Amino acid sequence: MINNQKVGAVIVAAGSGERMGGVDKMLAPLGGRTVLAWVVGVFQECPAIDEIAVVLGEHNIEAGQRLLAGFSKVIAVCRGGERRQDSVLAGINHLGGCRWLVIHDGARPLLTADLITDGLAAAAESGAAACAVPVTDTIKLAGDDDYVRETLSRKRLWAVQTPQVFRSDIITVAYRQAQAEFTDDASLVEKAGYRVKLYKGSYGNIKITTPAHLALAGVLLGERGG
Ligand code: C5P
Repeated sequence: MINNQKVGAVIVAAGSGERMGGVDKMLAPLGGRTVLAWVVGVFQECPAIDEIAVVLGEHNIEAGQRLLAGFSKVIAVCRGGERRQDSVLAGINHLGGCRWLVIHDGARPLLTADLITDGLAAAAESGAAACAVPVTDTIKLAGDDDYVRETLSRKRLWAVQTPQVFRSDIITVAYRQAQAEFTDDASLVEKAGYRVKLYKGSYGNIKITTPAHLALAGVLLGERGG
């Protein structure tokens, strides 16, 4: 709850994980638990969160239901869709009574409760907020021929992560209008004409995409004493 308004979380974990070399990253072991249990655990322990919908690939639904049976805030474990946004919508559909929606990639198990509450605070002012860090690499735009067309100024570039937090009416309108494919929810909301506020994320909030990320997550968790 924030200001007596219900807060729901959608955790999307229905991606194909093509770059994991055959390892199912959601159920992969990480510091004595699975990746999915770490993520859901952070939302379960965060006092601001009331309800959680977890979106999984068809093949993981049964295992997910078993794994998540002990998490009292999980009200739905449902099947995802072809595109990320289809999976998010499947989760949102279970959280009808929530005024605020926190959307998070299941592949980011190192988020903290602070990232959730900071997002809720930013969204309380703006209606829409996304967690992000300044880019540390130099980013170039290239053509189809791989020749550089432009080097972008790094000063204003941010690498956007999740959690992303939205007032429910805003994300509902944005989803109703969405036509193209989007890689995050903020871009869908921007496309619908709303302003999105960036708030400070964490370089440790990595997205597990390759086996190397899983190893790195283990090291980072170890440093935290997890
Ligand atoms: O593919 P990408 O890195 O953008 O995935 C981000 C998150 O979205 C992952 O946690 C992944 O499992 C999820 N996803 C999903 N359904 C899809 C595609 C991605 O739940 N169809």
